[in-house]
Amino acid sequence: MRILGIETSCDETSAAVVEETGDPARPWAIRSNIVASQVAIHREWGGVVPELASRQHIRDICRVVDRAMDQAQSTWRDLGAVAVTQGPGLVGSLLVGVSFAKAAAAAANLPLVAVHHLAGHIESLVLQNGELPLPSIVLVVSGGHTSLYLVERPGAYQLLSRTRDDAAGEAYDKVAKLLGLGYPGGPVIDRLAKKGDDRAVSLPTVRLTHADRNAPELKGDLDFSFSGLKTAVMRHVRGHDGPLSEQETADVAASFQRVVVASLIERLFDAARRYQAKSVGVSGGVSANSRLRAALEERGAARDVPTFLPSLALSTDNAAMIAAAGLRRFHAGEVASLDLNADAALPLR
Ligand code: KG4
Ligand code: ZN
Repeated sequence: MRILGIETSCDETSAAVVEETGDPARPWAIRSNIVASQVAIHREWGGVVPELASRQHIRDICRVVDRAMDQAQSTWRDLGAVAVTQGPGLVGSLLVGVSFAKAAAAAANLPLVAVHHLAGHIESLVLQNGELPLPSIVLVVSGGHTSLYLVERPGAYQLLSRTRDDAAGEAYDKVAKLLGLGYPGGPVIDRLAKKGDDRAVSLPTVRLTHADRNAPELKGDLDFSFSGLKTAVMRHVRGHDGPLSEQETADVAASFQRVVVASLIERLFDAARRYQAKSVGVSGGVSANSRLRAALEERGAARDVPTFLPSLALSTDNAAMIAAAGLRRFHAGEVASLDLNADAALPLR
């Protein structure tokens, strides 16, 4: 079976065709995965402007889907279903994908499958590497999320912890803005950090021990927090005598990155030990980070746990991962009706 995936939750318009292989170890093959990025539009404003994002999705969606179908050498008759990101994300952006997918499913007489954006990020690992040894602990770390999931069975995701405030990618973006480095912040800081001394600036690490009053069902000791770190960077920059030199900026970038990566890796492997994970994975936009990738590999080797990452193209938002997660749901009998609505705060648990 082939499925069309559509993703418009934030600032990329994406469509992909994914096909089942019949091989249980590597269940899916990507036939196309087209991404129209809006980064150039939002860069001017220092971050994603929701209203501009939804308008651009409307302009791009038809051509992006056409291109995905062409590249996959697919006609609508070759498809078995249409999968779309229902949430979470920017509601205006989500609505474009959801409306398009509903119309396409109705017109082509195909089942519609609603997908959680983070389920997509988790399945990007399987798309890239084949089925993971289970149970697995997966860290989804992006501009909007920093969450740990336990995957005990394929397609079953149990939320273990998340950030109490900023997402890691959001912290990268805010710190980059503070340092005058532009948007998005992750890739710039990643590059600059290589030239900096990661011990030059002392920054706080946060270790949460109490349950979150807003989520008493989670124990809370695996939670993340990045807003204090961002504030500490701000204090350092504002308290500095005059503007930072190029080297000083690189030092801040390196020190910030060291603390972020350490806190992500610590929680991830704490969870892996607690749940006796047979594998660990990291996905989402921040999984493109070179230091995080290296640290994951190193710690995995030291703990003798196999580690998994998506390719760079599958790290950031894309529709192939939504198509893959859609196939799981479709086979679980989870088909959506045509009154499906976008949900900006859709939970995954
Ligand atoms: O998954 P994604 O494309 O969109 C969301 O769902 O948020 O992630 C985008 C985030 C941005 O915050 C960006 O700064 C961050 O991923 N990012 C990185 C790197 N590349 C992208 N963060 C750190 N290092 C990178 N190399
Ligand atoms: Zn994402």
